[in-house]
Amino acid sequence: MVLSKFADKLPILPVLKPCRKDQSHTYYEVKMTEFKQSLHSELNDTTVWGYEGSYPGPTIEVESGEKVFVKWINNLPEKHLLPIDYTVHGAHLDVPEVRTVVHVHGASVEPESDGYPEAWFTKGFKQVGPYYTKKVYRYDNYMRACTLWYHDHALGITRLNVYAGLAGFYIIRDQHERSLNLPCGKYEIPLIIQDKSFNKDGSLYYPKQPEKPVPELETSVVPEFIGDTILVNGKVWPYLEVEPRKYRFRLLNASNTRFYRLKLDSGQLLYQIGTDGGLMEYPIGVQEIMLAPAERADVIIDFTNLEGKNIIMTNDAPAPFPGGDPPDPDTVGTVMQFRVTLPLSSIDTSVIPSYLGPLPKLRERSASKIRYLTLDDITDQYGREFMLLDNKRWDDPITEAPKLGSTEIWYLINLTNDSHPIHIHLVDFQILDRRPFDVERFKKERVIHYTGPSIPPEPQERGWKDTVRANPNQVTRMIMKFGPYKGLYVWHCHILEHEDYEMMRPFVVI
Ligand code: C2O
Repeated sequence: MVLSKFADKLPILPVLKPCRKDQSHTYYEVKMTEFKQSLHSELNDTTVWGYEGSYPGPTIEVESGEKVFVKWINNLPEKHLLPIDYTVHGAHLDVPEVRTVVHVHGASVEPESDGYPEAWFTKGFKQVGPYYTKKVYRYDNYMRACTLWYHDHALGITRLNVYAGLAGFYIIRDQHERSLNLPCGKYEIPLIIQDKSFNKDGSLYYPKQPEKPVPELETSVVPEFIGDTILVNGKVWPYLEVEPRKYRFRLLNASNTRFYRLKLDSGQLLYQIGTDGGLMEYPIGVQEIMLAPAERADVIIDFTNLEGKNIIMTNDAPAPFPGGDPPDPDTVGTVMQFRVTLPLSSIDTSVIPSYLGPLPKLRERSASKIRYLTLDDITDQYGREFMLLDNKRWDDPITEAPKLGSTEIWYLINLTNDSHPIHIHLVDFQILDRRPFDVERFKKERVIHYTGPSIPPEPQERGWKDTVRANPNQVTRMIMKFGPYKGLYVWHCHILEHEDYEMMRPFVVI
């Protein structure tokens, strides 16, 4: 079934209203429910999960320094919408089927409010996971202005909960950003990009078995999920009518596995102003933007003098990445369309500033600890290939215990054939470099033999990051300072099918 492209308008995501707000803090309540929503006009309404009756969830907008409390409430049915594999960690038959816990991705948060995968809770908080501590989460939001997102993180079913719809934007604003006169108000639009597949009746399709099926198991986790349809803000291949002026788009890849390399078919530049963790030092004009799952890019697109033009945002990243097939330009090679059809409602006085602000560089010599961490590929008892971090499973004892306030350099030594978007909770980091090495020799000798010079991060990655692409045949190095909270967090691959099946590890700040 191929749905028509550009049949539906891009939904503008609602901004969540607080239940209470005063000088000292803001309080939200957010309910997760199951409901039907139209994801394309040619498709029957689709049963999805969402926050506050909306998929994607409403955008939470806060000011830097604002103290925010959120009660995340699970009002979902007891039966899951999608096929569960009971053999993967945390999803065995001894736990309730539908469990949720919310993580604000990229936020620096006290550990009790970070959404630890085993801090899950069920409807009415009737049952809770072993690490559950409280109902109301606290976010201090002391970070700079940035584009974050919230999504489900329950152990063993994150891929299914997020695919069902549990994701939304969380935006921090500040005075400095406002002073830059970037496009704002209705000219600033967050775009959450996801891929899905549908059954004929309009319901969500998610595979029950990998390509090589596992006869012993009725339902098995798949090594990756690649959908045949692209959605932006919850609509399949939407269009957006724009004025001939500058717009700011906050791009987020919230797909399970798919990477995107985004381009405009007009050949015009995207002016990137921000990375995962906020504004860059200088804007850069780029032809294309690569986004692995969970990565964000803040961009300005200038439609000035393009009256009457239709511009398509395309994607040419192979899936899976980098070894998979290139996308069909007629389907998943297309993301959305911009139509420059609205009259200019007032003169565009917004700017693309030549300088955005200081970006202090973390120095290698400030690091007190270096960690060498492999990304591995092994086989389970059913003959399924699955991935590990540092050759360890979720339940193995904690090995990463950085000291509060210390700076560390992590070497991600990728021994697999995939590029893995590695995400570390609590901290923002800077990418130092990537360097090719001899994988086979490493497997034999456990020593890194580099086979070429180190490659600096791409211009579009030169800012604060919380997710980094660790490419095959390369050692990827990042540097970060651990704090300001102590306690238990996680780091993991953000390909959700990998995260759910052992490519996630706890770490503790001591
Ligand atoms: Cu976006 Cu640990 O997650």
